[in-house]
Amino acid sequence: MRQESPVHYDEQRETWDVFRYEDVERVLKDHDTFTANRAFDPEKSSNDGDSDGDEDLPMLQTMISTDPPEQTRLRGFVDERFQPGAIREYQPRVEAVTEELLDDLEDEDAFDFVDEFAIPLPVIVIAELLGIPAERRDEFKAWSDALVARPDDDSEAELQRVQREQERAQREMGGYFATLLEERDGGNGDDLITLAANADELTRGEQVGFCILLLLAGNITTTNLLTNAIWSVEEAGVTDAIRTGAVDRQRAIEEVLRYRSPIQSLKRIAVEDVELNGRRIETGDVVTLWLGAANRDPDVFDAPEEFRPERHPNRHMAFGTGVHFCLGAHLARMEADVALGQLLERFDRLDADLSDLRPLSGLYGLESLPCDVR
Ligand code: HEM
Repeated sequence: MRQESPVHYDEQRETWDVFRYEDVERVLKDHDTFTANRAFDPEKSSNDGDSDGDEDLPMLQTMISTDPPEQTRLRGFVDERFQPGAIREYQPRVEAVTEELLDDLEDEDAFDFVDEFAIPLPVIVIAELLGIPAERRDEFKAWSDALVARPDDDSEAELQRVQREQERAQREMGGYFATLLEERDGGNGDDLITLAANADELTRGEQVGFCILLLLAGNITTTNLLTNAIWSVEEAGVTDAIRTGAVDRQRAIEEVLRYRSPIQSLKRIAVEDVELNGRRIETGDVVTLWLGAANRDPDVFDAPEEFRPERHPNRHMAFGTGVHFCLGAHLARMEADVALGQLLERFDRLDADLSDLRPLSGLYGLESLPCDVR
């Protein structure tokens, strides 16, 4: 598809599919022409209002579904806290949380890597960054799970059940965040809830939206990066080489991000008629940008279908590009580096069972990944 029809209209899904690296990059960088506002409606004169068309975050205006200058206002207050220097300061906390999780697994012969490690680590890290009191962690975890729950089957009843659960979790969590924001307004703590509460350029609703966005954007994505890392290095037989340092751990993580990108696609809407790689896209058309395909574009990567753990340079777009470049990219990389480092130090072998893999639909990861460590 990338070669034959790099920009292709899918009648059924009513979207343009964009596969080539160069085209995906161009759309993401041209936020004047391609809006991130999923509620954009060419019939309306004003499209700066709430994002009521966004399935993920109804009614909450956040950086991910707005364009500059709104997006700049909604992101500016927190940008610095996710820069490499700030993330490095936080690394000892991530090391401690990782150690605790591994201590709990120490006596087990086998465990499910997804349930026992890759899911809890990012949730605990984000809860700590936000400053959720330790006694509320379980409740917080239940809300986080409900926010990203998937239906057990395709039936209408099941879809509605999951949607109701998500709405309930969002309401309860929104109420909880609103209370904490109120309490911490004017405070001097260094947690992200206090930072948001003191950001006067945001309304209280926008501050709540920010807190919920961190959970939605940062949890399963990181879970899938951790899972895809173990899956990929075990499959390629390079686990020992990474343990001994013969293969660079950070490069291997970048290659996992490229080869098994946790977010496979993003969407934008054209706000004016525009040409893209010879095709005419009209105002209001939806454009789906296939990051996973772009990350395997042979014009950019040698042998793109091969997992090469030492690939360098590696200009993958797993974290997007342009103004919406992932806020948590440095945090996710650091978590993966710490997690992989400690896991390989703790266990002489992982022996991941790759015989019955069930990849998730939507976000790219696995439902489970049994490991036999004895
Ligand atoms: C944005 C991927 C982890 C917070 C994005 C985007 C991608 C992405 C592709 C761009 C969205 C777009 O352009 O529409 C990932 C991947 C992750 C990860 C693959 C893990 C491996 C995290 C973490 C956090 C986070 C840990 C927070 C703690 C965000 C936020 C945005 C974002 C807030 C919106 C930025 C904006 O719109 O300005 N992420 N992400 N992400 N990510 Fe991540």
